[in-house]
This record gives sequence, structure tokens and C-alpha cells, in this order.
Amino acid sequence: MFSQRIGGLAPSPIRAILSVIDRPGMVSFAGGLPATSLLPEWSGTVPAELMQYGPSEGEPELRKLVSRRLTDLGLDAPAERVMVLSGSQQGIDLAAKLFIDPGTPVAVESPTYLAALQVFRFYGARFTGLDDLSAAALAYVVPTFGNPTGVCLTADERAGLAERCLASGTVLFEDDPYRELAYDDVDRTPIAARMTGGSWIYQGSFSKTFAPGLRVGFLTASADLYPSLVMLKQSVDLHSSRLSQRIVYDAVTAPDWDARLAGLASFYRNRRDDFEELLRRHLGGLASWTTPGGGLFYWLRLHRPVDTRSLLDEAIARGVAFMPGEEFFPGDPELGTMRLNFSHAATDDADRGLAVLADLLRTACPDSVYPLEFRSTT
Ligand SMILES: Cc1ncc(COP(=O)(O)O)c(C=O)c1O
Repeated sequence: MFSQRIGGLAPSPIRAILSVIDRPGMVSFAGGLPATSLLPEWSGTVPAELMQYGPSEGEPELRKLVSRRLTDLGLDAPAERVMVLSGSQQGIDLAAKLFIDPGTPVAVESPTYLAALQVFRFYGARFTGLDDLSAAALAYVVPTFGNPTGVCLTADERAGLAERCLASGTVLFEDDPYRELAYDDVDRTPIAARMTGGSWIYQGSFSKTFAPGLRVGFLTASADLYPSLVMLKQSVDLHSSRLSQRIVYDAVTAPDWDARLAGLASFYRNRRDDFEELLRRHLGGLASWTTPGGGLFYWLRLHRPVDTRSLLDEAIARGVAFMPGEEFFPGDPELGTMRLNFSHAATDDADRGLAVLADLLRTACPDSVYPLEFRSTT
């Protein structure tokens, strides 16, 4: 089941010893810990012990908190099987290390999250589709407002994927950083909640709901996988920033956290709606799209198969950045696709930027139907 490199994986003896040194009265000659009395104080509000090395799995209170939230979603995620990550990107690397040897079949959506493809490729994955999982060791999905498409899988699609993973013994790897950014009422039940008896990893992040710069994400996994993931984490960074974890913990336990989430969704829903209007105005005759029910992206299909990578330099020279869609394909790219983020730019800036993109596209495909033919599908 695991990659060949996992044969040599063993728990760090140092980490095992360090996990007991906080016991009252313990004299530690283990580990290279700085003297506690010399650790810096930070604004007087952060206890000095947070400046010391900490547990690889994460701060116990934060693990419990995440466990409670994930359990409420239907996942089998006791705190002992919740691990804090230095951003959920780290979970992708850990999973790839655990499963992928050169040539290992990994099933992915097409298109899918570019930085996951890059990691899987780096370890030698061979990409396959999600329809037939018979050969796939791992099935990686972003089922809820996915990156880059914004698509949210239906309840039937979720059930079907879980069934196929269970039938073929494929490990489900569900990457779910966008689930809280929901603008329409759609089913978001984690697929991993349907994986009883199978092997699975589910991960999320505080990047989109709180602060990406803190680099705090989390994962939970079935009992057969979790210990190996912890060992891999030990060798990557020992543990995630304790200060970041404390900041996240304080935010999530503050009385206004749920209101904050609701406020985010409402803010981004408005941004999405404004963006939709602007898209219709500027790109209605040049592209089609489906209005995303959540997340941060519009996925555009141009009416002409122009390779949007060829437009990027000129766009940047004119002060507009976008992601060419071609980059998100595991195999041969579909030409004429673009990912546009709508959460960051203020509406006036988006207006200006989309006008530039429309201009570039008209120049690149002069025979496109325009202006203002409305073709979006909502
Ligand atoms: C699908 C997906 N997974 C993982 C990540 C990484 O997020 P982070 O490492 O900030 O938690 C992103 C970031 O955009 C993403 O879109």
C-alpha cells in the first residue's frame, strides 16, 4: 500500500522522548532544548513555553477543537487522529511521500489544484481519472468548491466516489480548504465521512477562513494511515509553529468565530455577485462559465481555444494577473481556459482588470462573438 521509501520510516526516538519532558519533576538531558528562562516573551501575552519545542501532532487544545468540528461533520476524527499541519499544502506532501513511487497511479480530477499536481509529479505519480479506480493507489479530490473550477460535487457524486474507493481499496485523499466559503445551499458532507472500513485522509486549513500567513492547517486520517503521517511530519519540520497554533486557537474559540465565518461568506458572496456582473459585461461574448456556489474562483472556458499562457506576459505588462487554465491539467491541457480569483480585487479594480482581459482576448481571437452576448450558465 505504501511507497517503497516508507519501508525505512521509523518514529523519531528524540520526538518520543521529548513528548514526556514536560511532565512535572522530569529532569531532561534529552533533546537540544534552549533554557526555558532564556526564551523570549512576546508582547507579554504569549507564555514562554510556547516558544519551546512542542508536539509534532500539534497543540492538544487545537487538536481537540478541530476534532470536535470534524466529528460534527460526520468524520471519524478523534483528537488522537488529528494532526496540525504547517498549512494544508504540507498534507499534500506528506500523503505523496506516503504513497507515491515513480509510476504509482494517482487518480485526480482534471483540472485540479496545480500545487498538488506539482507535488505528485515530483514523487513520480502517473495520473489517471476518477471514473475507474481499479489501478489507483490514491484518489485526490477537492470536492467542495474546488480549485480551479469552483465546482462542488453533488451528494450522489460524493457517494459514488466513496463507493469506488472502497471497492478498489483506493485511498481517498479529500482536500477541503474552501468548505466554509459557501454562498449557495449545497451538499458539503465530506466524502471521507462515507469511508467507513476504507483508508482515507481528510484535510482542511485556516488559510482561507483566517490567515494564510500563519500557516496552520490540519488533517485527520483512518487509523491505518495516521501513525505513518505523523512520522513523516516529524521528519519534515518537527512540528508546526506553536505561536501560530495559539493565535488560531484563540480566534476559533472567541465568541465571534461563527459570526466571522458567516461574515466572510456574506462578503465573498457579494464579491462573487459583483464579479459575475462584470464578467457578463466584459467577457459575456468571449467565454462561458458556471457561477461557483462557494470558494474563490471562476473557471472560464473561452469560445476560442487560445492558449491563455500566451496572453499572460501582455496581461501582466498591462497590470493584470490571472492564472492560465492550462496549468491545472494532469495530462494534455484543454486550451482556452482561465482561472480568475474574485475574492481579492476590489470591484473597481476587477472592472478595470476584466476590461483589459477582454481587450487581450478580442485581439487574440478577433472572430469571437462580441460584444455583450451573454452565455454564462448559472
Ligand atoms: C485545494 C488546495 N489545497 C491546499 C491549499 C494550500 O493551502 P494552505 O497550505 O494555505 O492551507 C490550497 C491553497 O490555495 C488549495 O487551493
